[in-house]
Amino acid sequence: MNSTQPDDPLADAAYRDVPAEAGGRAGRTWWDANAGEYLAEHGDFLGTADFCWCPEGLREADAGLLGDLTGARVLEIGAGAAQCSRWLAARGVDVVATDVAHGMLAAGAGYDRPGHPPTPLLQADARALPFADASFDVVFTAFGAIPFVPDAVRVHREAARVLRPGGRWVFSVTHPLRWAFPDDPGEHGLTASRSYFDRRPYVETGTSGAVLYAEYHRTLGDHVAELAAAGFVLERLVEPEWPEGHERTWGGWGPVRGRLLPGTAIFVTHR
Ligand SMILES: C[S@@+](CC[C@H](N)C(=O)[O-])C[C@H]1O[C@@H](n2cnc3c(N)ncnc32)[C@H](O)[C@@H]1O
Repeated sequence: MNSTQPDDPLADAAYRDVPAEAGGRAGRTWWDANAGEYLAEHGDFLGTADFCWCPEGLREADAGLLGDLTGARVLEIGAGAAQCSRWLAARGVDVVATDVAHGMLAAGAGYDRPGHPPTPLLQADARALPFADASFDVVFTAFGAIPFVPDAVRVHREAARVLRPGGRWVFSVTHPLRWAFPDDPGEHGLTASRSYFDRRPYVETGTSGAVLYAEYHRTLGDHVAELAAAGFVLERLVEPEWPEGHERTWGGWGPVRGRLLPGTAIFVTHR
Protein backbone atom coordinates (compact mmCIF):
# COMPACT_ATOMS: atom_id res chain seq x y z
CA MET A 1 0.00 0.00 0.00
CA ASN A 2 1.14 3.54 -0.64
CA SER A 3 -0.64 6.35 1.10
CA THR A 4 -1.75 9.48 -0.67
CA GLN A 5 -2.24 12.21 1.87
CA PRO A 6 -0.72 15.41 0.45
CA ASP A 7 -0.69 17.18 3.82
CA ASP A 8 1.17 14.29 5.49
CA PRO A 9 3.36 12.37 3.01
CA LEU A 10 4.57 8.86 3.73
CA ALA A 11 7.71 8.84 5.87
CA ASP A 12 8.00 5.25 7.03
CA ALA A 13 6.57 1.75 6.43
CA ALA A 14 7.34 -1.06 8.88
CA TYR A 15 5.94 -3.91 10.93
CA ARG A 16 5.56 -2.35 14.33
CA ASP A 17 3.13 -1.93 17.18
CA VAL A 18 1.15 1.29 17.37
CA PRO A 19 -1.55 2.43 19.80
CA ALA A 20 -4.74 0.52 19.00
CA GLU A 21 -6.79 3.69 18.70
CA ALA A 22 -4.44 5.19 16.09
CA GLY A 23 -4.33 1.96 14.08
CA GLY A 24 -8.11 1.53 14.08
CA ARG A 25 -8.68 5.18 13.17
CA ALA A 26 -6.43 4.81 10.11
CA GLY A 27 -8.91 2.18 8.87
CA ARG A 28 -11.28 5.06 8.18
CA THR A 29 -8.97 7.95 7.30
CA TRP A 30 -6.84 5.99 4.80
CA TRP A 31 -9.86 4.67 2.92
CA ASP A 32 -11.50 8.10 2.93
CA ALA A 33 -8.38 9.72 1.51
CA ASN A 34 -7.55 6.97 -0.96
CA ALA A 35 -10.95 5.75 -2.19
CA GLY A 36 -10.47 7.31 -5.64
CA GLU A 37 -6.93 5.98 -6.08
CA TYR A 38 -7.90 2.49 -4.87
CA LEU A 39 -10.88 2.25 -7.19
CA ALA A 40 -8.89 3.65 -10.12
CA GLU A 41 -6.45 0.78 -9.63
CA HIS A 42 -8.81 -2.08 -8.78
CA GLY A 43 -12.26 -0.84 -9.86
CA ASP A 44 -12.27 -2.57 -13.23
CA PHE A 45 -11.44 -5.92 -11.59
CA LEU A 46 -14.14 -5.46 -8.96
CA GLY A 47 -16.77 -4.15 -11.38
CA THR A 48 -19.66 -2.02 -10.19
CA ALA A 49 -22.16 -4.79 -9.42
CA ASP A 50 -20.19 -7.99 -9.03
CA PHE A 51 -19.58 -10.24 -6.02
CA CYS A 52 -15.91 -11.22 -6.04
CA TRP A 53 -14.47 -12.72 -2.85
CA CYS A 54 -10.77 -12.25 -3.58
CA PRO A 55 -7.97 -11.48 -6.08
CA GLU A 56 -8.15 -15.13 -7.20
CA GLY A 57 -11.47 -14.11 -8.76
CA LEU A 58 -13.76 -16.51 -6.88
CA ARG A 59 -17.30 -15.25 -7.32
CA GLU A 60 -20.31 -15.82 -5.10
CA ALA A 61 -22.27 -16.81 -8.21
CA ASP A 62 -20.02 -19.91 -8.40
CA ALA A 63 -19.09 -20.47 -4.76
CA GLY A 64 -22.49 -19.97 -3.08
CA LEU A 65 -20.83 -19.40 0.31
CA LEU A 66 -23.73 -17.32 1.63
CA GLY A 67 -26.18 -20.16 1.02
CA ASP A 68 -29.76 -19.79 -0.14
CA LEU A 69 -30.72 -16.12 0.30
CA THR A 70 -34.41 -16.51 -0.51
CA GLY A 71 -36.24 -14.25 1.93
CA ALA A 72 -33.00 -13.48 3.81
CA ARG A 73 -32.02 -10.10 5.22
CA VAL A 74 -28.33 -9.56 4.52
CA LEU A 75 -25.73 -7.15 5.89
CA GLU A 76 -22.38 -6.33 4.29
CA ILE A 77 -19.75 -4.74 6.51
CA GLY A 78 -16.59 -3.03 5.26
CA ALA A 79 -18.40 -2.93 1.92
CA GLY A 80 -16.20 -0.33 0.24
CA ALA A 81 -18.04 0.78 -2.90
CA ALA A 82 -20.63 -1.96 -2.24
CA GLN A 83 -20.10 -3.91 -5.46
CA CYS A 84 -21.09 -7.17 -3.71
CA SER A 85 -24.28 -5.73 -2.21
CA ARG A 86 -25.20 -4.15 -5.53
CA TRP A 87 -24.89 -7.56 -7.19
CA LEU A 88 -27.09 -9.13 -4.50
CA ALA A 89 -29.67 -6.33 -4.70
CA ALA A 90 -29.90 -6.79 -8.47
CA ARG A 91 -30.92 -10.39 -7.72
CA GLY A 92 -33.71 -9.28 -5.40
CA VAL A 93 -31.84 -9.84 -2.11
CA ASP A 94 -32.77 -7.55 0.80
CA VAL A 95 -29.30 -6.19 1.57
CA VAL A 96 -27.71 -3.18 3.25
CA ALA A 97 -24.06 -2.22 2.72
CA THR A 98 -22.06 -0.51 5.45
CA ASP A 99 -18.55 0.88 5.62
CA VAL A 100 -16.69 3.17 8.01
CA ALA A 101 -15.27 5.33 5.19
CA HIS A 102 -17.61 7.85 3.65
CA GLY A 103 -15.27 8.17 0.64
CA MET A 104 -15.76 4.52 -0.31
CA LEU A 105 -19.54 4.65 0.11
CA ALA A 106 -19.76 7.89 -1.90
CA ALA A 107 -17.89 6.21 -4.75
CA GLY A 108 -20.34 3.33 -4.49
CA ALA A 109 -23.35 5.64 -4.70
CA GLY A 110 -21.93 6.76 -8.04
CA TYR A 111 -22.05 3.16 -9.28
CA ASP A 112 -25.83 2.92 -8.97
CA ARG A 113 -27.53 2.94 -12.34
CA PRO A 114 -29.92 5.83 -13.04
CA GLY A 115 -33.52 4.66 -13.03
CA HIS A 116 -32.76 1.72 -10.71
CA PRO A 117 -33.33 1.68 -6.93
CA PRO A 118 -30.18 2.90 -5.12
CA THR A 119 -28.20 0.30 -3.16
CA PRO A 120 -28.89 0.90 0.55
CA LEU A 121 -25.64 2.33 2.02
CA LEU A 122 -24.88 3.31 5.59
CA GLN A 123 -21.72 4.63 7.19
CA ALA A 124 -20.87 2.46 10.20
CA ASP A 125 -17.87 1.08 12.02
CA ALA A 126 -18.13 -2.72 11.97
CA ARG A 127 -17.21 -2.68 15.66
CA ALA A 128 -20.36 -0.72 16.58
CA LEU A 129 -23.18 -1.57 14.18
CA PRO A 130 -26.34 0.57 14.30
CA PHE A 131 -28.72 -2.39 14.02
CA ALA A 132 -30.96 -4.25 16.43
CA ASP A 133 -30.04 -7.63 17.86
CA ALA A 134 -30.96 -10.63 15.68
CA SER A 135 -32.01 -8.48 12.73
CA PHE A 136 -30.08 -10.27 9.93
CA ASP A 137 -29.85 -13.78 8.51
CA VAL A 138 -26.43 -13.32 6.89
CA VAL A 139 -23.49 -10.97 7.49
CA PHE A 140 -20.49 -10.93 5.18
CA THR A 141 -17.47 -9.01 4.01
CA ALA A 142 -14.91 -9.47 1.23
CA PHE A 143 -11.66 -8.15 2.73
CA GLY A 144 -13.47 -5.41 4.65
CA ALA A 145 -12.96 -4.13 8.19
CA ILE A 146 -11.21 -7.13 9.83
CA PRO A 147 -7.69 -6.51 8.43
CA PHE A 148 -7.87 -2.86 9.47
CA VAL A 149 -8.87 -3.12 13.11
CA PRO A 150 -6.64 -4.08 16.05
CA ASP A 151 -9.63 -5.67 17.82
CA ALA A 152 -11.31 -7.99 15.29
CA VAL A 153 -13.12 -9.86 18.04
CA ARG A 154 -15.32 -6.77 18.34
CA VAL A 155 -16.31 -7.19 14.67
CA HIS A 156 -17.15 -10.86 15.27
CA ARG A 157 -19.16 -9.99 18.40
CA GLU A 158 -21.15 -7.36 16.51
CA ALA A 159 -21.80 -9.81 13.68
CA ALA A 160 -23.00 -12.33 16.28
CA ARG A 161 -25.22 -9.75 17.97
CA VAL A 162 -27.03 -8.63 14.80
CA LEU A 163 -27.44 -12.19 13.49
CA ARG A 164 -30.40 -14.32 14.40
CA PRO A 165 -29.51 -17.69 15.99
CA GLY A 166 -28.19 -19.95 13.25
CA GLY A 167 -27.36 -16.96 11.05
CA ARG A 168 -24.33 -17.05 8.80
CA TRP A 169 -21.14 -14.94 9.03
CA VAL A 170 -18.77 -15.24 6.07
CA PHE A 171 -15.62 -13.19 5.51
CA SER A 172 -12.50 -13.22 3.38
CA VAL A 173 -9.07 -11.98 4.43
CA THR A 174 -5.50 -12.25 3.21
CA HIS A 175 -4.39 -15.81 3.90
CA PRO A 176 -2.39 -15.60 7.16
CA LEU A 177 0.47 -17.60 5.63
CA ARG A 178 1.16 -14.69 3.27
CA TRP A 179 2.39 -12.59 6.18
CA ALA A 180 5.58 -14.64 6.35
CA PHE A 181 6.49 -13.62 2.78
CA PRO A 182 7.38 -10.28 1.14
CA ASP A 183 4.33 -8.57 -0.39
CA ASP A 184 5.66 -9.09 -3.91
CA PRO A 185 3.84 -11.00 -6.67
CA GLY A 186 7.13 -12.13 -8.27
CA GLU A 187 9.89 -14.61 -7.43
CA HIS A 188 11.09 -12.42 -4.54
CA GLY A 189 7.75 -13.07 -2.87
CA LEU A 190 8.39 -16.81 -2.71
CA THR A 191 10.95 -16.80 0.09
CA ALA A 192 9.71 -16.50 3.66
CA SER A 193 11.35 -13.48 5.26
CA ARG A 194 9.58 -13.00 8.57
CA SER A 195 7.89 -15.08 11.21
CA TYR A 196 4.32 -16.15 10.61
CA PHE A 197 3.93 -15.77 14.36
CA ASP A 198 4.97 -12.09 14.43
CA ARG A 199 1.64 -10.32 15.04
CA ARG A 200 2.93 -6.77 14.68
CA PRO A 201 0.81 -4.88 12.13
CA TYR A 202 2.13 -3.44 8.90
CA VAL A 203 2.09 0.32 9.51
CA GLU A 204 2.67 3.37 7.33
CA THR A 205 3.51 6.60 9.12
CA GLY A 206 3.40 10.17 7.82
CA THR A 207 6.01 12.88 8.27
CA SER A 208 3.87 14.20 11.14
CA GLY A 209 4.27 10.86 12.93
CA ALA A 210 0.57 10.03 12.44
CA VAL A 211 -0.44 6.46 11.56
CA LEU A 212 -1.69 6.70 7.96
CA TYR A 213 -2.35 3.00 7.34
CA ALA A 214 -2.36 -0.08 9.52
CA GLU A 215 -3.08 -3.67 8.52
CA TYR A 216 -3.28 -6.42 11.11
CA HIS A 217 -2.10 -10.01 10.94
CA ARG A 218 -3.79 -12.91 12.68
CA THR A 219 -2.66 -16.49 12.38
CA LEU A 220 -5.21 -19.11 11.38
CA GLY A 221 -5.39 -20.11 15.03
CA ASP A 222 -6.03 -16.51 16.06
CA HIS A 223 -8.96 -16.22 13.63
CA VAL A 224 -10.48 -19.46 14.90
CA ALA A 225 -10.04 -18.42 18.55
CA GLU A 226 -11.66 -15.03 17.90
CA LEU A 227 -14.59 -16.64 16.10
CA ALA A 228 -15.09 -19.11 18.94
CA ALA A 229 -14.92 -16.30 21.51
CA ALA A 230 -17.78 -14.57 19.68
CA GLY A 231 -19.87 -17.76 19.63
CA PHE A 232 -19.40 -18.83 16.01
CA VAL A 233 -19.05 -22.35 14.67
CA LEU A 234 -16.60 -22.71 11.79
CA GLU A 235 -18.15 -24.71 8.93
CA ARG A 236 -15.56 -24.31 6.19
CA LEU A 237 -12.24 -22.62 5.55
CA VAL A 238 -12.06 -21.95 1.82
CA GLU A 239 -8.61 -21.42 0.26
CA PRO A 240 -9.29 -20.42 -3.36
CA GLU A 241 -6.75 -21.74 -5.84
CA TRP A 242 -5.24 -19.52 -8.49
CA PRO A 243 -7.13 -20.27 -11.72
CA GLU A 244 -5.27 -21.37 -14.82
CA GLY A 245 -4.95 -18.45 -17.24
CA HIS A 246 -5.64 -15.75 -14.62
CA GLU A 247 -2.74 -13.35 -15.16
CA ARG A 248 -3.92 -10.30 -13.25
CA THR A 249 -1.78 -9.19 -10.28
CA TRP A 250 -3.16 -7.31 -7.28
CA GLY A 251 -0.50 -6.11 -4.86
CA GLY A 252 1.27 -9.27 -3.72
CA TRP A 253 -1.23 -11.58 -5.46
CA GLY A 254 -0.47 -12.95 -8.90
CA PRO A 255 0.04 -16.16 -10.86
CA VAL A 256 3.66 -16.77 -9.76
CA ARG A 257 2.82 -17.08 -6.07
CA GLY A 258 -0.75 -18.20 -6.72
CA ARG A 259 0.51 -21.45 -8.22
CA LEU A 260 2.40 -22.29 -5.00
CA LEU A 261 0.81 -20.53 -2.05
CA PRO A 262 -2.70 -19.69 -0.86
CA GLY A 263 -3.47 -15.95 -1.00
CA THR A 264 -6.94 -15.76 0.52
CA ALA A 265 -8.77 -17.43 3.39
CA ILE A 266 -12.58 -17.36 3.48
CA PHE A 267 -14.20 -18.31 6.78
CA VAL A 268 -17.74 -19.71 6.54
CA THR A 269 -19.33 -19.75 9.97
CA HIS A 270 -22.69 -19.71 11.74
CA ARG A 271 -23.98 -18.51 15.09
C1 LIG B 1 -10.23 -3.78 0.74
S1 LIG B 1 -11.70 -2.84 1.04
C2 LIG B 1 -12.92 -4.09 0.93
C3 LIG B 1 -14.16 -3.57 0.27
C4 LIG B 1 -14.53 -4.22 -1.05
N1 LIG B 1 -14.97 -5.58 -0.86
C5 LIG B 1 -13.35 -4.16 -1.99
O1 LIG B 1 -12.79 -5.23 -2.30
O2 LIG B 1 -12.99 -3.07 -2.41
C6 LIG B 1 -11.60 -2.57 2.80
C7 LIG B 1 -12.78 -1.76 3.35
O3 LIG B 1 -12.81 -1.92 4.79
C8 LIG B 1 -13.29 -0.69 5.31
N2 LIG B 1 -13.03 -0.60 6.76
C9 LIG B 1 -11.84 -0.42 7.38
N3 LIG B 1 -12.02 -0.37 8.72
C10 LIG B 1 -13.35 -0.54 8.93
C11 LIG B 1 -14.16 -0.60 10.09
N4 LIG B 1 -13.64 -0.46 11.34
N5 LIG B 1 -15.49 -0.77 9.95
C12 LIG B 1 -16.05 -0.90 8.71
N6 LIG B 1 -15.33 -0.85 7.57
C13 LIG B 1 -14.00 -0.69 7.68
C14 LIG B 1 -12.57 0.35 4.48
O4 LIG B 1 -13.16 1.60 4.58
C15 LIG B 1 -12.63 -0.26 3.09
O5 LIG B 1 -13.74 0.22 2.37
